[in-house]
Amino acid sequence: MFGNSKKDEAGYLSAKESRRISKENRKITQDYEKKRKRKNVDPSEYACEMRDPNNAVEFDDVHTYFFTDTGVVKSVDGVTYDVPVGKTVGVVGESGCGKSVTCLSLIQLLQRPQGQVTGGAIRLNLGDHAIDVTKAPEEAMQKIRGSEVSMIYQEPMTSLNPVFKIGEQIEEVIALHDGKDWDAERIKARAIEMIETVGIANSEGIYGMYPHELSGGMRQRIMIAIALACNPRIIIADEPTTALDVTIQAQILDLLRTLKDKINSSIILVTHDLGVVAEMADYVVVMYAGRIVERGTAEEIFDHPAHPYTIGLMASKPVVGKKVKRLYSIPGKVPNPVDMPNYCYFKDRCELCVKACDGEYPHMVRLSPTHEVSCYRYYDDASASAATETAAVLDELIAGTDNEGEDK
Ligand SMILES: Nc1ncnc2c1ncn2[C@@H]1O[C@H](COP(=O)(O)OP(=O)(O)OP(=O)(O)O)[C@@H](O)[C@H]1O
Ligand SMILES: [Mg+2]
Repeated sequence: MFGNSKKDEAGYLSAKESRRISKENRKITQDYEKKRKRKNVDPSEYACEMRDPNNAVEFDDVHTYFFTDTGVVKSVDGVTYDVPVGKTVGVVGESGCGKSVTCLSLIQLLQRPQGQVTGGAIRLNLGDHAIDVTKAPEEAMQKIRGSEVSMIYQEPMTSLNPVFKIGEQIEEVIALHDGKDWDAERIKARAIEMIETVGIANSEGIYGMYPHELSGGMRQRIMIAIALACNPRIIIADEPTTALDVTIQAQILDLLRTLKDKINSSIILVTHDLGVVAEMADYVVVMYAGRIVERGTAEEIFDHPAHPYTIGLMASKPVVGKKVKRLYSIPGKVPNPVDMPNYCYFKDRCELCVKACDGEYPHMVRLSPTHEVSCYRYYDDASASAATETAAVLDELIAGTDNEGEDK
């Protein structure tokens, strides 16, 4: 759909070619930006119906591209999954596979103007009505961010503003949404209540401190306090515990779960840590190179992983009580996002290829009402035998690295 870059024999872009691409990109992105910045847009323009009213969010064939000077990066290339009300969906996958960009597309905080949602729909259930955020103008999104959908970022030190006190940063969110008509005292009381809610003692003292005066775990709690200050329907937690040690990590996850149940929100939990997903998630989505390769309930994904990539992920996680000298690692690397192949993106790294894998990108195959996988091994009648074979392969992969370790 969008123009490709022409490289010379050595694989470099000429200055002329680079200029041509950026001119073309500007034309495309300006159109998107113009639409987004319109004022007083009729809400019926971005209103929609949820496919299932029990879902809080529905990602439907979402495409998010970055128009860079070296070509179009297809960071998210046809992602479809649902987030049911009151449930936690874990999103896992290798670094750079598009987990964060999918979340940023929902909250419309992509790096502009390069980053644009170019296709699909993201339906957001707001109780009495629903909207498609890919069509909503910036004006409408400002009302939703922080109050209906909020995000907990990976690195609190870079997300909190170092020159404002903790209290002021929590108050800012409250004053913009729930506390629009409240007086200063009431807003302050709510901010202090939030600091207490996230389990920090001395809430009044912390209220007057700057971010650098707090420990990493406390800063992460403050981020959660800010995210939950207006009881959002959807909490996006993008690797919320990566920067913390395991004991604090467990406390933060506990806190997130308790608060989620208290306000009946849904959580989209992005993480590299399969242990965290197993503990927190009801459903799991496995992403690879901008697409979903498998989705299902947490039990299905952990007990019966079907896609070779998921099998590799499971085999590469440490198991308590099992001695291995070296963990399994998936061979090869992710294809270049500017120049994706026209066959299965995982094929070149796959150790379980079948003949059909030379064909075009495989569609999703349904293994159960909730379990789907995009892999040729499950096409036609082969799915039952492939599933049993999978369990054996997983054991073999783990055992293989085990023996190798013992040999040395
Ligand atoms: N502003 C940007 N400009 C160009 N490309 C970008 C930009 N932001 C992200 N990308 C590309 O989009 C792809 C997906 O990035 P994303 O941040 O979603 O990865 P991720 O799955 O969250 O990885 P991680 O686990 O490391 O956080 C990557 O290939 C990245 O290079
Ligand atoms: Mg990320």
